Amino acid sequence: MRMRKRHNLCPRMEACGEYLIDEPQEHRGLWLQEHPGCRHLQVELGCGKGRFTVETARANPDTLFLAIEKVPDAMILAMERAKAMGLQNVLFMDFDAANLSGIFAPGEAERIYLNFSDPWPKSRDAKFRLTAPGFLRLYADALPLGGQIHFKTDNTPLFDWSVEQFEAEGWALSELTHDLHKNGPVGVMTDYEAKFVAEGLRINRLVATRIETTKTTAAGPVPRLRNAALSDARGLHDQEDSRLRLEEATLALSQIYYAQFEQDPELFEDKSRFVPYRYDPDDVAVRFAARRQQPDRKSFFVLLGDQVIADLVFKHIDLENRCCELGLCLVNDRWKNRGYGTEALRLAVRYAFETLGMETVLADSLLTNTRSQHVLSKAGFRYIREDGHFKYYQIRRQAEEKEI
Ligand SMILES: C[S@@+](CC[C@H](N)C(=O)[O-])C[C@H]1O[C@@H](n2cnc3c(N)ncnc32)[C@H](O)[C@@H]1O
Repeated sequence: MRMRKRHNLCPRMEACGEYLIDEPQEHRGLWLQEHPGCRHLQVELGCGKGRFTVETARANPDTLFLAIEKVPDAMILAMERAKAMGLQNVLFMDFDAANLSGIFAPGEAERIYLNFSDPWPKSRDAKFRLTAPGFLRLYADALPLGGQIHFKTDNTPLFDWSVEQFEAEGWALSELTHDLHKNGPVGVMTDYEAKFVAEGLRINRLVATRIETTKTTAAGPVPRLRNAALSDARGLHDQEDSRLRLEEATLALSQIYYAQFEQDPELFEDKSRFVPYRYDPDDVAVRFAARRQQPDRKSFFVLLGDQVIADLVFKHIDLENRCCELGLCLVNDRWKNRGYGTEALRLAVRYAFETLGMETVLADSLLTNTRSQHVLSKAGFRYIREDGHFKYYQIRRQAEEKEI
């Protein structure tokens, strides 16, 4: 969160002194003991301006609510809200969640809230996401078995990426939704959430429960995060890298792709039948699950640096006859007429021959899609025939090898 510098921060902090914990490490293992009126300990990481913090604390007077925030210019507003409401069960600390183990004894916190955590869209920054494996292990240390993380975000690529991290780290997931407020407002909203909901954005939410399989820091080094770039609906992009590569399809990559996907009206013979594609994360998740069930299919995305630029699929893989069909679809016009289609097809053909062991790769193109026909020819495909709607092409391994 980029904040304006708050005026008179120090005196304002002093005025809310009873709510500020200066040395949180000194309270490690003692939080509830020091607050005998409270029976539960809950933590919010990245409380921002604190709308959720104060409303949740007010609704649960027997819960000690600890709000952690590394930007004091935001936190002061939350503290002032708590003071104005006269709350007795909420405390704030200007602290980085990365140091969580210094302030909670093992199993001390009952629940951790992650609300609209910063997405850190670049792959190299993925480790800073509050749902990165390194953080999840810190949370697992601080929670007992059965302890929970409640996670909400508007950012669907971040959400789906986080689901994969939670699953890989052995958490039990429940209450997972891509549209929390579909049937009307649910639960206490955060400042960000209220703004996003007013703009018509959908909110993702899940609950992750620590179970026997959940990895703690004792599990050793966290796995390296690869290809972890997010490209969210608000256009946060990494720098372009000039080399294309194939990545096996994951739900997170599918969400990134379809969030940017645009249908080309020029491809419709009957333009009156054109309906612009409307991104629906739930629908993407359902289709992704269905495609995974098809054994003769392998799905990939084509990446340029951290950008997902095309969907690529090998269909009807016939291992006996060493033949398959190839489908490639660039995500939108941004990547057209720049040679990426041809390069992606060449990469795919090489993969089909060298990794899948194919001898023949087939492809087709709508009669109306002259650009795709041109790209297929440039990539070495040979025209075979056409019917009323499609032109059919193929490329054979031997012919390729001769050309090389
Ligand atoms: C996008 S804001 C959301 C604020 C609030 N939760 C809401 O929903 O309105 C994310 C907040 O998390 C804080 N934050 C990010 N990483 C943090 C970390 N490692 N430790 C503590 N706070 C962090 C940021 O400073 C920022 O205030």
